[in-house]
Amino acid sequence: MRAVLLAGLLVPFVAGVALAQSDVIKERKALMGALGDQTKAGAAIMKGDQPYDPAKAAAIFKAYTDASTFNTLFPAGSNTGDTKAAPAIWSDRAGFDAEMAKFNTAVQQGLPNIGTEAGFKSAFQAVAATCRTCHSTYQAR
Ligand code: HEC
Repeated sequence: MRAVLLAGLLVPFVAGVALAQSDVIKERKALMGALGDQTKAGAAIMKGDQPYDPAKAAAIFKAYTDASTFNTLFPAGSNTGDTKAAPAIWSDRAGFDAEMAKFNTAVQQGLPNIGTEAGFKSAFQAVAATCRTCHSTYQAR
């Protein structure tokens, strides 16, 4: 009787955990996807394919500030499934968090300057460099 009760309690619990983990993977990929789209828009401005526009610059940096706690979307167990998160996130969490901090610092330092084309371009380059360094270690390819 007790075992039956326990099993009944455990099944929804385990299913809930599995669901939550695929949700967190979706959530972090959606956040990165938005970051990717905005960064493409920024790259087009860098190349001169699109004109500098303060509203666009603000939207790009809004996506960056929205992603500031992205590193919290990697709970234990969310390393498998439809994800390119590298094992190093879990074996070297301090290093991963440090990459997040570098990104946030670049965003915060650049933010006051994005109202001019030159300010935006140097802020954008500084942030984009941190995307690459984090991906090189923590995103599997
Ligand atoms: C602190 C580390 C870190 C930083 C900083 C970071 N990323 Fe990522 N990014 C990741 C990880 C880890 C993944 C893999 C997530 C997964 O598949 O679960 C990822 C995935 C992505 C993806 C693929 C999303 C998908 O749908 O699979 C894109 C696009 C992306 N990042 C763009 C960016 C851009 C652009 C920046 C900078 C503006 C950036 N990232 C900054 C760690 C980072």
